Amino acid sequence: VIQSHPLLSLAALLTIVFLICRFIRDSFKVDSLAQRHVLITGCDSGFGNFLAQQLDSKGIPVIAGCFSEKGAADLSALTSSKLKTLQLNVTDSASIKRAVEFVRAEVGQRGLWGLVNNAGISIPIGPIDWLKPEDFTKILDVNLLGVIDVTLHFLPLLKRVQGRVVNVASIFGRLSLAGGGYCPSKYGVEAFSDSLRRDMQPFGIKVSIIEPGFFKTAVTSSKMIEGDLKRLWDRLPQDVKDSYGTTYLQEYTEAQKLSLGILCSSDLSKVTNCMEHALTACYPRTRYGAGWDAKLLWIPLSYMPSFMADFVVKVLLPFPKSL
Ligand SMILES: NC(=O)c1ccc[n+]([C@@H]2O[C@H](COP(=O)([O-])OP(=O)(O)OC[C@H]3O[C@@H](n4cnc5c(N)ncnc54)[C@H](OP(=O)(O)O)[C@@H]3O)[C@@H](O)[C@H]2O)c1
Repeated sequence: VIQSHPLLSLAALLTIVFLICRFIRDSFKVDSLAQRHVLITGCDSGFGNFLAQQLDSKGIPVIAGCFSEKGAADLSALTSSKLKTLQLNVTDSASIKRAVEFVRAEVGQRGLWGLVNNAGISIPIGPIDWLKPEDFTKILDVNLLGVIDVTLHFLPLLKRVQGRVVNVASIFGRLSLAGGGYCPSKYGVEAFSDSLRRDMQPFGIKVSIIEPGFFKTAVTSSKMIEGDLKRLWDRLPQDVKDSYGTTYLQEYTEAQKLSLGILCSSDLSKVTNCMEHALTACYPRTRYGAGWDAKLLWIPLSYMPSFMADFVVKVLLPFPKSL
């Protein structure tokens, strides 16, 4: 069919040429990676932990920011002596300032090559009228203001070496599929990263955004989300509970569990390979969609009319009984 239509043939040819050019462009790597330090936040578990080990195994000097002492000790036990850990709470400016001093002492005049803003939390998440303003603040503090505060503190060290910033957003930064502070925080990370990229371009700093789909880590643990939804439900006034009906909580948690079970991939390397490319390629991409669901489902859906995303949410979640 393609061969019999000149326009289709041209489109196919151009696509192939585009893909080959992109493959070649993607394959150029920066040199002297063993001299280029990378700081990663949230290395206790999940993507941050996996990336720290991945880069360390390739000889890249990693400074792993861990939220807890245990997380730092566990990671140190798995990695080479070249990897340094530090305790870092991204919501605490004093902790960030201590991290700057630590990193400055480690990198010396070389500056900091890469900053990966990875730390994040996902709960409280749930129907908006189950939440209080402080539930939004809690997530925004870590996922958005934490990213901004850490980035601002490390920009002088990044400027010195014309380094890289890699910000972990989500497909929830393109589609608001769940209530609570998580989606606004990730939309915020997208916006912050876009302005950061444009403002820092004259200084040679490159900024990439990672948009993972669903992956099996602590933030997608259905047990944790379920427990927190129960907590939110239990504190609701009776009239709000009545408006949803007595079976709603169970139906909602079951629907979430089912979706997470189907969608979550356990191959974290799909995300960390994107992060590694953003840090080591001569021409890093601006956005990396990570995971089959992000590439084939969520990112295409984000370009479609809003009623289509509304329909998906309607299909995935139960309906309140009073409606
Ligand atoms: N998993 C997914 O499907 C998915 C999809 C899209 C985007 N993401 C994003 O990917 C990033 C990493 O999450 P993950 O999936 O790897 O989950 P994770 O295993 O829970 O990793 C998050 C890390 O952030 C740390 N952290 C939490 N609060 C912190 C704070 N105030 N300061 C510093 N560190 C803090 C956590 O420490 P503790 O373990 O000690 O709490 C943990 O090490 C997050 O930004 C998340 O939003 C995840």
